[in-house]
Amino acid sequence: MPSLEGKIRYAVVGGGWISQAAFMPGVGQTSNSLMTAIVTGDKEKGAELARRYGLDVYGYDEYDAMLKSGTVDAVYVATPNFRHREFAEPALKAGIHVLLEKPMEASLEDAEAIRAAAKASGAKLMIAYRLHCEPGTIAMVEAVRKGEIGKPRFFTSTFSQTVRATNHRATSGYWAGPVPDMGTYPINAVRNLFEAEPTEVMAFASKTDRDLGCDDTVSVVLKFTEGRQASFTLSYSAEGVDQFYLVGTEGAMTASPAFGFGEGTKIGYELAKDGETSTHEAPEVDQFGGETAYFSDCILSGREPEPDGEEGVLDMIVLAAIERAIETGEVQKLQPRSRLRRIGQEQSRELALAKSPSLVGIERPVE
Ligand SMILES: NC(=O)c1ccc[n+]([C@@H]2O[C@H](COP(=O)([O-])OP(=O)(O)OC[C@H]3O[C@@H](n4cnc5c(N)ncnc54)[C@H](OP(=O)(O)O)[C@@H]3O)[C@@H](O)[C@H]2O)c1
Repeated sequence: MPSLEGKIRYAVVGGGWISQAAFMPGVGQTSNSLMTAIVTGDKEKGAELARRYGLDVYGYDEYDAMLKSGTVDAVYVATPNFRHREFAEPALKAGIHVLLEKPMEASLEDAEAIRAAAKASGAKLMIAYRLHCEPGTIAMVEAVRKGEIGKPRFFTSTFSQTVRATNHRATSGYWAGPVPDMGTYPINAVRNLFEAEPTEVMAFASKTDRDLGCDDTVSVVLKFTEGRQASFTLSYSAEGVDQFYLVGTEGAMTASPAFGFGEGTKIGYELAKDGETSTHEAPEVDQFGGETAYFSDCILSGREPEPDGEEGVLDMIVLAAIERAIETGEVQKLQPRSRLRRIGQEQSRELALAKSPSLVGIERPVE
């Protein structure tokens, strides 16, 4: 354990869009993290990225050797959802920390297995919920906690984009589709804004003439205790929209953008209260650098990261219930659950946004 100048050394697993466009440049914005390796199925792309960032290149079949190499303290897993456990579990078993992209996996069973591996390991697991370290999101959670909108009553959200029909997101069924890929954001947001877990789930799904390998557009309603509700619509086949509205007994909060990242993205909010509207600005930050800096701080100081396996599994429980609701057309009841840990101010990281590099050997998944 650590490493070069006290920095956590990361291996990037999967050289796709989010690794190249966001994580790899973001690491350079931190003062406590660096990259030493990339694990990829494309050696040519790997060689180019290795030149750019000074990395060792490994194939997926060399993963165990990489874990044992002594050159890596943590892995950032950014393969498709259905290839998360395959890399997260062996790393945790080998005592290597894991920053795992959302959603945790493509089944609740696989997500539970990752969580169990983290519990049994001395190494830490953080689900890469970048917004848990984003100052604007944290300000919204704190404002609701302080009672700025009174008691929260309902949440509505729209999150849509046009995903390329050829990307694995659009060709691999429900668990790569708009609900796990994008729905994780409103689910995670409302769970943290209400500080509660849903008790009932209903959903409707439709396909368009784009003929994707999953439903294009899904609408979900979640029921919570104390008369609270959330509803949201997700789409892979529509203009990019990214917003939520949260209405309480004494005010309403709206955020747009609410879930995005990158150049020009400032996750502020408007608060409507007592007949007046106030605007709460937030900075443009490097969200990927921020979450990585937070995770490395946790590793270096021996603290458990807040977006842990339990947080990831609680979202997966809702995603699995939405799948059942779509399949059966019936309301899905969930057993009462609670979570003690919630997003806190100390997680906020405000790092300048890195310049977005040119992509090597891939195209953006979104048109
Ligand atoms: N936090 C966020 O804001 C955010 C945003 C986007 C995505 N994500 C998550 O990050 C993960 C990756 O998403 P992405 O947008 O980077 O996807 P992507 O551009 O399609 O890249 C995925 C990469 O995984 C590797 N891979 C390994 N097995 C594969 C297979 N069977 N099919 C396709 N690719 C395979 C490939 O890298 P090699 O060629 O190097 O092997 C590929 O480039 C997903 O879990 C997604 O939900 C998170």
